[in-house]
Amino acid sequence: MSYLESLFSLKDQVAVVIGGTGVLCGELAHGLAGAGAHVVVAGRSEERGLARVEAITAQGGKASFAAVDAMSKASIQQLCDEQFAEHGRVHMLINGAGVNSPTPYFDIEEEEFERILRSNLMGTHFACQSFGKAMIAAGGGSILNIGSVTSFLPLSKVFTYAASKAAVLNLTKNVAREFATQGVRVNCLCPGFFPAEQNRKILSPERTADIMRHTPMKRFGEPSELIGATLLLLSAKAGSFITGEAIYVDGGFTSMTI
Ligand SMILES: NC(=O)c1ccc[n+]([C@@H]2O[C@H](COP(=O)([O-])OP(=O)(O)OC[C@H]3O[C@@H](n4cnc5c(N)ncnc54)[C@H](O)[C@@H]3O)[C@@H](O)[C@H]2O)c1
Repeated sequence: MSYLESLFSLKDQVAVVIGGTGVLCGELAHGLAGAGAHVVVAGRSEERGLARVEAITAQGGKASFAAVDAMSKASIQQLCDEQFAEHGRVHMLINGAGVNSPTPYFDIEEEEFERILRSNLMGTHFACQSFGKAMIAAGGGSILNIGSVTSFLPLSKVFTYAASKAAVLNLTKNVAREFATQGVRVNCLCPGFFPAEQNRKILSPERTADIMRHTPMKRFGEPSELIGATLLLLSAKAGSFITGEAIYVDGGFTSMTI
């Protein structure tokens, strides 16, 4: 095994990617499979999940699909139980199911606020609880929650989403501290702006111009540019002393004032 492989190889490990049906986490699923893991693509859309599994296996990777609704504690517990039963162990988990909305502040209904918090924040919490407990019992593991640049500071137009992602980072640090001596690391990947399904309706030409003005690298990210930080944070060897950390992959967005 080469030096780099010994640091980053995920061979013989199992990773569950909740939201692996989507654009960014689908790409992360490819990255983990490329590093040798068996990837369980988990999400609500079987059609998109199976398409992702097919794409991964076509490239020689190992993957399977599992249905889950991140808004349901019971559904996440079932996913956890089934995957531990099937594979004996789950070494890595990505919590990436996320929804967004551009509703103006005074128009946000209680139902919408609750729905976004439930999928982005509570889903992450449900999975940290169930998978965290099972990983501790199995001898260790690594969890990667998906935050955002708005985990760090408020972002206009997406009030509920911003509140949920700030809370995801706070929860990440708190759970990381809680699990720190029990073999489970918990970190947060905070992407900048990557055109995808959940933000397409928000990326108007005016919004895009605002984002570019505030992004030192003056471009959107490519989903594959998230893989390096993901491998670092999830790898038991390369990331062994990293917990409670957030890595912003944002072309400099969070380093910018004027
Ligand atoms: N695209 C960006 O610029 C960006 C930036 C920062 C953070 N993020 C975060 O990255 C993650 C992935 O987003 P994306 O841009 O790839 O969006 P996406 O819409 O392509 O992917 C999100 C996936 O999550 C799934 N999902 C949503 N709610 C679910 C639920 N309750 N149960 C199961 N699956 C559910 C969706 O079906 C979809 O497949 C999200 O957490 C998002 O908030 C995205």
